Amino acid sequence: MVNLGDVFPNFKANTTVGEIQFHDWLGDSWGILFSHPADYTPVCTTELGRAAQLVPDFSKRGVKMLALSCNDLNSHQGWIKDIQAYSELNGSFPYPIISDENRDLAVQLGMIDPMEKDKDGLPLTCRAVFIIGPDKKLKLSMLYPATTGRNFDELLRVVDSLQLTAEKRVATPADWKAGGECMVLPSVKQEDISELFPKGVRTHPLPSKKNYLRFTPQP
Ligand code: BEZ
Repeated sequence: MVNLGDVFPNFKANTTVGEIQFHDWLGDSWGILFSHPADYTPVCTTELGRAAQLVPDFSKRGVKMLALSCNDLNSHQGWIKDIQAYSELNGSFPYPIISDENRDLAVQLGMIDPMEKDKDGLPLTCRAVFIIGPDKKLKLSMLYPATTGRNFDELLRVVDSLQLTAEKRVATPADWKAGGECMVLPSVKQEDISELFPKGVRTHPLPSKKNYLRFTPQP
């Protein structure tokens, strides 16, 4: 398993655009690696289609997308046509799909879902998401079971939070969206507030009288 803050493995993989070495492929970008149980399955088709529709939004944020499922490249190429038809996308498919036929990568990255098996009884990959920074370190991971499709707008939202909080001394509260109020980090001392947050800070009063709920406009 890769933990938050670990350097993500620099794996080599066969993809629909040829062989890649992960760190070289990532370059100076952020990256999202997301896995799927299998090609030609309904939820996965909606997910890859939605991800493809949102590629311009991820690109604007400097994020590259990379999908993985355990079928072979021929299967991926055929399935891509279905995904594009369903999602009403034209032209070349906008991100590579890894073929991890022998599940080496799925095992290495902890993506296997022992509850889901293919027709030969081999375990399938779950719906894993890894967000990797330009420093090649893991910034966020999520694991969903096969029966629950992910929300790709949520991935855009968390990228906005990750990129903001990598630069500024704030955290983002529940249901935050880009442009919304942020929270001053607990580690910021009260005496440093005016210098660090020129837009101002409001402290929400609490029964404990502790001044830890400190909101500030998005820096
Ligand atoms: C799906 O993508 O629809 C799916 C795949 C495996 C198990 C359940 C659902």
